[in-house]
Amino acid sequence: MCGIIGYVGNAPAIPVLLAGLKRLEYRGYDSAGLALPQGGRLLAVKAVGKVARLAEKVRRLGPSWDAAPPRVGIAHTRWATHGAPTEPNAHPHFAEGEGIALVHNGIIENYRAIRARLEAKGHRFVSETDTEALSRLIGECHRGDLRAAVIAALRQVEGAYGIAVLSRDEPGAIVVARKGSPLVIGVGEGECLVASDPAAIIAHTRRVIYLDDGDVARVTAEQVDIVDLDEARIDRAVGELGFAPEAVEKGGYEHFMLKEIHEQPEALRNALRGRLDPAHGTAVLAGMGTSPRDLAEIRRIALLGCGTSLHAGQVGEHAFEDLAGVPAAAQQAAEFRYRNPLVDPSDLVIAISQSGETADTLAAVREAKDKGALVLGLVNGVGSTIARETGRGVYLHAGPEISVASTKAFTCQVAVLLLMALRLGRGRRLSRERGQALAAELGRLPELVGRVLAREAEIAAVARRFVGQDHAFYLGRGPMHAVALEGALKLKEISYVHAEGYHAAELKHGPIALLTAGTPVVVLANRSAIRDKVLGNAEECRARGACIIAVATEGDEAPGADEVLWIPGCDPLVATIPAAVALQLLAYHVARLRECPIDQPRNLAKSVTVE
Ligand code: F6R
Repeated sequence: MCGIIGYVGNAPAIPVLLAGLKRLEYRGYDSAGLALPQGGRLLAVKAVGKVARLAEKVRRLGPSWDAAPPRVGIAHTRWATHGAPTEPNAHPHFAEGEGIALVHNGIIENYRAIRARLEAKGHRFVSETDTEALSRLIGECHRGDLRAAVIAALRQVEGAYGIAVLSRDEPGAIVVARKGSPLVIGVGEGECLVASDPAAIIAHTRRVIYLDDGDVARVTAEQVDIVDLDEARIDRAVGELGFAPEAVEKGGYEHFMLKEIHEQPEALRNALRGRLDPAHGTAVLAGMGTSPRDLAEIRRIALLGCGTSLHAGQVGEHAFEDLAGVPAAAQQAAEFRYRNPLVDPSDLVIAISQSGETADTLAAVREAKDKGALVLGLVNGVGSTIARETGRGVYLHAGPEISVASTKAFTCQVAVLLLMALRLGRGRRLSRERGQALAAELGRLPELVGRVLAREAEIAAVARRFVGQDHAFYLGRGPMHAVALEGALKLKEISYVHAEGYHAAELKHGPIALLTAGTPVVVLANRSAIRDKVLGNAEECRARGACIIAVATEGDEAPGADEVLWIPGCDPLVATIPAAVALQLLAYHVARLRECPIDQPRNLAKSVTVE
């Protein structure tokens, strides 16, 4: 979604801001802009479309900057919510007359009331955005001290925000504030950066301060000074980013998605490192922060997430019930937060999120905490809001995921859920022998996934079956039902082929009407107790002319399949991971054949920080 980058220091700000915006592109956006001081006033440049267009506009203005390049500035990529992606709606927004510019992530919920009030006072709004109401409100509150004005305005605001504000009168400072929308400050040598995402600043420094909700900071080249909305001083520790600048480069791959698919053996190794106890057939998850007694008291498990993370939870529900004998249900986080869920202190709630910033998942965490449940985070984004609000949980250690389509986060989420289920299971009904067998298989995951990756050329050949097709179906049963949903999601989001995942038994209750000759039907038919049932469902589709693409276990037959994606033999729960990898590669190669913008699919954002 929207991205913020700001710079104050000794270097010319424009190249830093443009490079930062490029780094934020992956999050999804439809316009971009920046604001810089020039000749005693603030100048904005905005463009609809890609950052390259903004850079071109800035370059054309070049001569006006060259004599005295500004050394401070704020910039933004906007993912339209209030008003179309137009230049007037693009950020920064201004407080006319006061020389104040603002970039904003999030949504100001009471902006209509603020706007009406300001219009009654004579303000003439130039955009349809909620953000302009906030910029003008800050201007109204301005008595010469920018941070005081920001605080006075934020006290009147309802909603979520991460903001960076620049004032003509304080050209050596940026004021930033957050509530519900992440902001990080990078502390360099004689320079500071502010950003909504550490990926935008990693090229400059690894020393960072994460702001918390309610923080308002005045950032200069030399100093970061943080207060709360009551202007009480706050100390926040400077931490170290846990990844290197190369982690956010393509590293020779054509797309981040392909790079991240291929990173999975390493990502899984990192997710599993130090967490398996093969001798006792269990897992060691210190981050769960729960005593064996706490675990013994858990009566029910809710797994909350959205999109791909929800699908990981849907694999998890099978694992918890099968291995630990605890009733478990994956729930869409937005639904959970509004349905007045039945939660009590003997419930374990696991919030699953790659970014750790998804608005609905965060709100569901708060609801579950308010209702007294034990809440754990299963998060990739270190220092993210969900990680901090849950207080305890398990990091994925998958490394930064830049591609909008989630791949390595999904497989690491499933792997860690299997570890959690193993841990819980061993404290309950799971035998040492089955625990040992599972722990051994989990330890082999990097190798199992590596074997699927080695078959990429075969999978790319199967992708040709999707050429000219508008619809596809993915069928699975048991934990593979979740993989079918995930495979279909991957295909539709990056290739724009309409795809649906179904329980294999469900097709004949309606969707089978959509099958025509050649419709691709991907069938998850790995070795398991229900394989024959799945193959029977595939036959029903084949009889109607569909093209059957089976995901099957090496060494098995795949009767009736037109194409096969082979995965190595392993436990049916563990097999969800290599199967998902095969479907990621399939979606990638279909999208490539269709020449789609794989890393930045239309309309999508990497991290969904609005409801
Ligand atoms: C799909 C995808 C999304 C996310 C969803 C939740 O490839 O990436 O469906 O899974 O927006 O995001 P997180 O996991 O960051 O909470």
